Amino acid sequence: MDNIYSTAKVHPEPNISWSLEPELTDIMATSRSYKRLLYVWEAWHNASGVPLRDYYPRFVELSNNASQADGFDDTGADWRSWYESTTFEKDIEDLYRTIEPLYQNLHAFVRRKLYNQYGPKYINLKGPIPAHLLGNMWAQTWNNIYDMMIPFPDKPNLDVTDEMGYNATHMFYVAEDFFTSLNLEKMPDEFWSGSMLVKPEGREVVCHASAWDFYNRNDFRIKQCTAVTMEQLFTVHHEMGHIQYYLQYKDQPVGFRRGANPGFHEAIGDVLSLSVSTPKHLHAIKLLETVTSDPEIDTNYLLKMALEKIAFLPFGYLIDQWRWGVFSGNTPPERYNAEWWYLRTKYQGICPPTGRTEEHLDAGAKYHIPGNTPYIRYFVSFILQFQLHEKLCMAANQTGDLHTCDIYGSAEAGAILKKILQTGSSKPWPVVLQDAIGTDKMDATSLMKYFEPIIKWLEKQNVNETLGWPDFNWVPPIPEGYPEDIGKTVCPTMILQARSLQSLTVVL
Ligand SMILES: *[C@@H]1O[C@H](CO)[C@@H](O)[C@H](O)[C@H]1NC(C)=O
Ligand SMILES: [Zn+2]
Repeated sequence: MDNIYSTAKVHPEPNISWSLEPELTDIMATSRSYKRLLYVWEAWHNASGVPLRDYYPRFVELSNNASQADGFDDTGADWRSWYESTTFEKDIEDLYRTIEPLYQNLHAFVRRKLYNQYGPKYINLKGPIPAHLLGNMWAQTWNNIYDMMIPFPDKPNLDVTDEMGYNATHMFYVAEDFFTSLNLEKMPDEFWSGSMLVKPEGREVVCHASAWDFYNRNDFRIKQCTAVTMEQLFTVHHEMGHIQYYLQYKDQPVGFRRGANPGFHEAIGDVLSLSVSTPKHLHAIKLLETVTSDPEIDTNYLLKMALEKIAFLPFGYLIDQWRWGVFSGNTPPERYNAEWWYLRTKYQGICPPTGRTEEHLDAGAKYHIPGNTPYIRYFVSFILQFQLHEKLCMAANQTGDLHTCDIYGSAEAGAILKKILQTGSSKPWPVVLQDAIGTDKMDATSLMKYFEPIIKWLEKQNVNETLGWPDFNWVPPIPEGYPEDIGKTVCPTMILQARSLQSLTVVL
């Protein structure tokens, strides 16, 4: 399954081959053509998801057998046990309910902007948003359509991709410098000699970024097909956060060389990125020319952060809801795709832009399904990283608004992180959290505090909008000239190739 995903290609013409990274990701981020985005979205979902359909149900059976042999009801129960809480599912649901109004305000604002861009035919102001218009293949983060959303467009551009002029290696130096400024570890020599930081020529690799602990206390590596963009600069920090964790707990017994829970592991690099992305820090590392204290720049900045962080929350929540249902058998194979789209609409307020059937497995078009990486950890991380950020900012004597805080250079902040990291999984996570920040609960208060100014602003913009998507079952029309047979085929790759011969000029 991993191999199907990582080698899937889209052929817009017989002799042209597009991979997810970089071509398809790049088009999803930058194209503003409804049809071109639709083509790329659909072609990817068919090329990667459909072939998985033959394997996934059997995989679920085998995985459940293994979990049951370990005494769990199914693999979902096995995965949830890592959070050491009998109320885990309810705790997560309660957290989600707390932040849902923030999401609905962001969603309504974005839907209005997309309506202005794509028109009433494709955007229903009371309905879900077509899934392919949000700048990302899975609509999981929306920061790539920030340019259409900027509240005050005359202020400096906070997407500094065009200013970077970096190569891939330099992006890792920038991240390493942040870690060492906190008095944390440098990357060891083995990291630089063993990692794969750019996509190699002439062989297939799994491009999905990952960080590896070889468990010999020396060898730690990142594998990433790094593109020089601001978004990927944060991915670099994210992956290096994993390496920093590995380095800090390397002297624990092997069984404790894990995060306090999986969400902690995902949070570390992101915590640093919350500082790196501030206008103040971007200015300090010469990616932003001017920085003045200005409420309009603040609004721009917080909207961009909301497109990244708030937009992600329902996605981070629903992936494992789908998988828990699949593993428990509540969602049988003949309802895999229906349940997927039910959850995508219910939580994200998005809809499929073309007809999808049970011959598709659209969940399989997301790395973590074929790669079998549990996902609720990212939801946990997106809550936890703001709790940590707030505490580290206090330690760093950053007394302004939470979203302006930059912990760069603070050994005091670094010391708090170091203690969490060095503990690994040798103590229950509530104890680790209590020791570090004085609470033993996941809690959305810090996140709400961080985004409070932009939520107030969004509420003002949305006074005449419908929050949510009461037209739950609405789907957009297929554009004229876009092939009728799309999404109705058993063998999509072949049909896509055949179709592309006749439809290419229309589609591209
Ligand atoms: C990448 O940038 C660094 C400077 O940070 C430089 O030393 C290195 O030679 C560059 N690598 C390539 C392949 O251009
Ligand atoms: Zn990660």
